[in-house]
Amino acid sequence: MTEGFAELHVHIEGSLEPETILALAERNGVELPYRDLDDLRARYRFTDLQSFLDLYYANMQVLRTAQDFADLARAYFARAARGGVRRAEFFFDPQAHTSRGVPLAEVAAGLADAVAGAHSEFGMDVAMIASIVRDRPVTEAQEVFGELLRLGAPIIGLGLDSAEVGHPPSLFEDVFARARAEGLHVTAHAGEEGPPEYVWQALDLLGAERIDHGIRSLEDPELVARLVDERIPLTVCPLSNVRLRVVDTLADHPLRRMLDAGLAVSVHSDDPAYFGGYVDDNFAALRDSLDLTDDEQSVLQRNSWEAAFL
Ligand code: ADE
Ligand code: ZN
Repeated sequence: MTEGFAELHVHIEGSLEPETILALAERNGVELPYRDLDDLRARYRFTDLQSFLDLYYANMQVLRTAQDFADLARAYFARAARGGVRRAEFFFDPQAHTSRGVPLAEVAAGLADAVAGAHSEFGMDVAMIASIVRDRPVTEAQEVFGELLRLGAPIIGLGLDSAEVGHPPSLFEDVFARARAEGLHVTAHAGEEGPPEYVWQALDLLGAERIDHGIRSLEDPELVARLVDERIPLTVCPLSNVRLRVVDTLADHPLRRMLDAGLAVSVHSDDPAYFGGYVDDNFAALRDSLDLTDDEQSVLQRNSWEAAFL
């Protein structure tokens, strides 16, 4: 079996644990609308992607300084390394911070500092991918991407996330063309809640090398054939899909059908602090609920290494 996991689909802000939210609120003097930890935890019941995003963005208000971002990333690396992650390519959402007045330089400096120490501190190889928040203005995406370049932020790629339906990849052709021209890798969330058409657009209009989620691709046999032929990786997040009610239960998860169709799927955690676990927890749950075998787990792990931007 390939050694360890390559975690390719994790949002660093989605690794912000409830205890850390309260601790950072205290450190930064931020008033939160939660009585206590239990009250905060009680809000982690989601009905769809938007209901999660509302809490996810609200909780980010505790992240203010470069130190906060560095601490967040280091806590993630420590937990991921304990769970067997040997490479992580994490997303961060620059606009979620700039839009509330946190300078991009603080965000980038804190994350970059943690990334620079990841190998010596945690034995992990780490890279970061800036992600466009697709339900914010297209002009803002272009401005923030330009600022990332001016700052020399050490990103290896550009992604696309947040509320999918009604915010198709086609809106962002220009900024992704610019990213490709800069030599950056390109990936996009598509086919999580949105239709297979958005996966086509991510491939054809953005030049996506990977598709994040992509589970609704199964609804379109022609798309499945294309993804199989070109061996385009799909970074699937089973616990996320259940918690956001994209699938009913883990036992109903289309992962095995995707494997059987010959798709280049791998398993990831998405927002581990919100969805019940890190990548090792996702595998443990799949072994329990989907009777995932050792051989299947090996294939999924191998696929994750093949899909890494190495
Ligand atoms: N941002 C953080 N998690 C996300 C998800 N599962 N889908 C879209 N955007 C996200
Ligand atoms: Zn995601």
